[in-house]
Amino acid sequence: MSVRLFEGKEHALSYWKYRISPSEEIINKILVFLEKHRSRPFELVVDVGCGSGQGTVLLGPHFSKAVGTDVSPAQLEMARQHSSAENITYRECPAEELPFENATVDLVTSMSAFHWFDHPRFLKEADRILKPKGCLALLNYTINDMELSYGDCSNALSQICKEFADALMPYRNPYLGTTSMDHYKKAYNALEYLDKEWHETLQTRKTVSVSNYIGLVESFSPYQTILREDPEKARRLSQDTTERLLKAMGVTSPDTEIVLSVRYYCLLACKP
Ligand SMILES: C[S@@+](CC[C@H](N)C(=O)[O-])C[C@H]1O[C@@H](n2cnc3c(N)ncnc32)[C@H](O)[C@@H]1O
Repeated sequence: MSVRLFEGKEHALSYWKYRISPSEEIINKILVFLEKHRSRPFELVVDVGCGSGQGTVLLGPHFSKAVGTDVSPAQLEMARQHSSAENITYRECPAEELPFENATVDLVTSMSAFHWFDHPRFLKEADRILKPKGCLALLNYTINDMELSYGDCSNALSQICKEFADALMPYRNPYLGTTSMDHYKKAYNALEYLDKEWHETLQTRKTVSVSNYIGLVESFSPYQTILREDPEKARRLSQDTTERLLKAMGVTSPDTEIVLSVRYYCLLACKP
């Protein structure tokens, strides 16, 4: 079973504006893993569930061709609007039916999207299109893996950030279970590829404004559920969190910058 969300225009715009992408260090880790198995130049990477393309554009410079794929026309429109590199293109298709020939792809990635796919069908499809010794990289982070820093009140901010995430927990899509990491670990354990790695603590740090941090959390599916069910409750939650953060920081402007740390986890595997 796969779950289709994130497809509206507003949601795609908030993705483009607020979603973070993996650090250069994480992208490098994937490339180093790939280079252990396939020599450069790398031909083709397919970034599945690419959303508005923030991960696809990081991969583009390392491949002759990068293709982002997604089921959402609105997300793809956003991706195309913000990508000018000639070697990056986007295709509308489900993760479970990828329009590539057998054994033609060096690297298949999926960033913050695999948990929504039909796992067995997607993994079979990735296996079909990967070249021998081609690699698979599945990455994700969650709202529970975020910390905020600002001056000497970082602990207080991280606690407010945790409480914001906790308030969204009851609105998680039941399909996901209590933690999306379980989907990735299960896939890792089930994958029959012998050469595979599991990484759990890959940090990405980014300076963002308080309002951008709020926008990021608002782009997650549980917040979008509250917004649909009870818009006033959603608005209050964001406003209260903003006010608490600003008070703890001793500032008044939501444009004030903080450092957001996000912990990614990642499955890397090489097709025999
Ligand atoms: C949380 S977003 C992640 C976007 C981007 N990769 C990122 O790192 O921010 C998940 C994306 O997966 C897409 N998606 C969900 N299920 C899908 C499926 N079965 N096939 C293809 N794309 C899918 C959604 O449309 C959405 O753009």
